[in-house]
Amino acid sequence: MKKILITGGAGFIGSHVVRLFVTKYPDYQIYNLDKLTYAGNLANLSDIENLPNYHFIKADIVDGEAMQKLFALHQFDGVIHLAAESHVDRSIANPLEFVMTNVVGTVNLLNAAKFHWKDNFDGKRFYHVSTDEVYGSLGETGYFTEETPYDPHSPYSASKASSDHFVRAYHDTYGLPVVLSNCSNNYGPNQFPEKLIPLFINNIRHNKPLPVYGKGENVRDWLYVVDHARAIDLIFHKGKDGETYNIGGHNEWKNIDLIKVICRIMDEKLGRAPGTSEQLITYVKDRAGHDLRYAIDAGKLQHELGWVPSLQFEEGIRLTIEWYLSNQAWLDEVTSGHYLKYYEEQYVKR
Ligand code: NAD
Ligand code: DAU
Repeated sequence: MKKILITGGAGFIGSHVVRLFVTKYPDYQIYNLDKLTYAGNLANLSDIENLPNYHFIKADIVDGEAMQKLFALHQFDGVIHLAAESHVDRSIANPLEFVMTNVVGTVNLLNAAKFHWKDNFDGKRFYHVSTDEVYGSLGETGYFTEETPYDPHSPYSASKASSDHFVRAYHDTYGLPVVLSNCSNNYGPNQFPEKLIPLFINNIRHNKPLPVYGKGENVRDWLYVVDHARAIDLIFHKGKDGETYNIGGHNEWKNIDLIKVICRIMDEKLGRAPGTSEQLITYVKDRAGHDLRYAIDAGKLQHELGWVPSLQFEEGIRLTIEWYLSNQAWLDEVTSGHYLKYYEEQYVKR
């Protein structure tokens, strides 16, 4: 029997990974460790929370002593580490919080794994989930490969780059069995509505302005979150020790074109006249240090482990919009309280 610690399992991607592991591997015991920050929400897992192989631990990865105690208590065989501060705009406003969770938190987990696994690394694995933003920004052509040099530009991507380096350093220095992946932009159900797609769906719902940074010409490579979770499952079980795998959708969109697709589908779903939602588009001051383009070459993952995305974008974005419209209570819940203060600071006062 395997005991797997998944950190950040109450967040967007983490909740899809937890669901996949709990339902696909009934003989594994899955421990979801999460601090439940503004981005963590146990309602994301209400459908599986009563399954006998699912366990929740409320803890902060910045607390190194607590991490050591948890490893001593549960004797985890594997770690899938997703817990992080994940929003670029918040990192611009408060970089230190990103250093604490993303760098110090990761090193605390590495230390706990190193200490408790030191006698025997057989069957053990530390999987670090990272982002394509560590590679910096592309021009109009080319792709990020696993060999692209790191060149982070935001405090968020700098903190993720640092954590990636620590994970590799623990492999090279102490022999810790690790594997890493760097993924492009995810979309799908349960994403906190500070990120582009759910933010714009929610604003259209409320007839609020759609704040497009700069000219809307930045390009992102979008992947449906369940396909990311499938890739994580594959890499966790079949990836080679010490290796990094890039994950991406081969699905590049200029922000403004993507926004127009969302507007079109929202008009259709809400029974509004075509063109109604597009009128909400408002160009606002650009994000500082805004990376122009991300695009992933996921060839290594495809050729070595046979992974390809399962969903076409048109289907994925429709499923996503339908999910938010069928779960308006979820949206209303997460956009109350602290969210209103964040929104005011980020979009109204600036
Ligand atoms: P998210 O912000 O939705 O969720 C993060 C989770 O981590 C939340 O549940 C939060 O409560 C928890 N958390 C934060 N600080 C913590 C702490 N100190 N201790 C314990 N738990 C803590 O993030 P996400 O979008 O699901 O991203 C998950 C991971 O995937 C991150 O590591 C991120 O860098 C990476 N990633 C995200 C994307 C994307 O498009 N969202 C793409 C590539 C990689
Ligand atoms: O590439 C992977 C990364 O994707 C992850 O590591 C991050 O955790 C995740 O947040 C995401 O980062 P981005 O900055 O690309 O995502 P975001 O949804 O914040 O923005 C997507 C694009 O939309 C980006 O070019 C900025 C733009 N944007 C975003 C917001 C929130 C706007 O134009 N207006 C907005 O209000």
